[in-house]
Amino acid sequence: MRTVRTIAELRAALAPARGGRIGFVPTMGALHEGHLSLLRAAREDNDTVVLSIFVNPTQFDQAADLAAYPRTEERDAELAASAGVDVLFAPDAAELYPAGFATTVRVAGSIVETLEGAHRGRAHFDGVATVVVKLLLSVLPDTAYFGAKDAQQVVVVRRVVADLDVPVRIAVRPTSRDDDGLARSSRNTRLSPDERSRAAAIPRVLTAIAAAVTAGDADAEALCARGLATLVEAGVAPEYLAVVDPDTLEPMRAVDRPALLVVAATVGATRLIDNVLLAPGGRR
Ligand code: PAF
Repeated sequence: MRTVRTIAELRAALAPARGGRIGFVPTMGALHEGHLSLLRAAREDNDTVVLSIFVNPTQFDQAADLAAYPRTEERDAELAASAGVDVLFAPDAAELYPAGFATTVRVAGSIVETLEGAHRGRAHFDGVATVVVKLLLSVLPDTAYFGAKDAQQVVVVRRVVADLDVPVRIAVRPTSRDDDGLARSSRNTRLSPDERSRAAAIPRVLTAIAAAVTAGDADAEALCARGLATLVEAGVAPEYLAVVDPDTLEPMRAVDRPALLVVAATVGATRLIDNVLLAPGGRR
């Protein structure tokens, strides 16, 4: 595995690989099993696998969150090498945002105004869209891999790639979960043992609602109200629990077609998100 820090080095490293299939996994590091499953998929589908590790400052709405974000580059590099990564791109902020940087990729409409956009501020998705476009243009992969846990990010990235005609296929892999169902996230490392066990209420609530929908309960408002109460009882502070259209992210009152159940909640000082697909009438 070759580690490169600049876009020029990255392009030179990838020049001989052009013509073969290039798979790309963008990350902010602190690699866990979820990232490794993306890397495995990339390794299986492609001739060359590129991983980026960049804790993107422009997508953090709180300086404290950015400062606390886990940075484990040495361990990440070992994991990446053993997952078969060919090129690790680990730029610093000045490489991606040099002096004079003045361009933002801004997505408009409900897909960025709702859910995470409403709670974290729309600058979050401006930051994600801008860095993802920069990374895609730097790597120029055939396929880029994203995790389904960040459902709204996936909707936004698909929109940006379609609107800007970026020639890349977006592959979305299922959320990777621990044994108790908690979605794997770099943020989980910040949970104390007590918070970690309280956090397991999040996937429990999602699973219970999905089962109720499959059994024929279609009242999104009532299902979410019960779910919110269960989270609070378990010591989790929900920000939202909502049933939305999987493509537009518009709220749905009746689960009468496939839908996405999305949640954001804090446990202690750690903010977690998760989601699950809902399929009414046994269509799951
Ligand atoms: O999902 C992430 O880790 C980040 O949002 C991404 C896509 C690497 C952009 O910084």
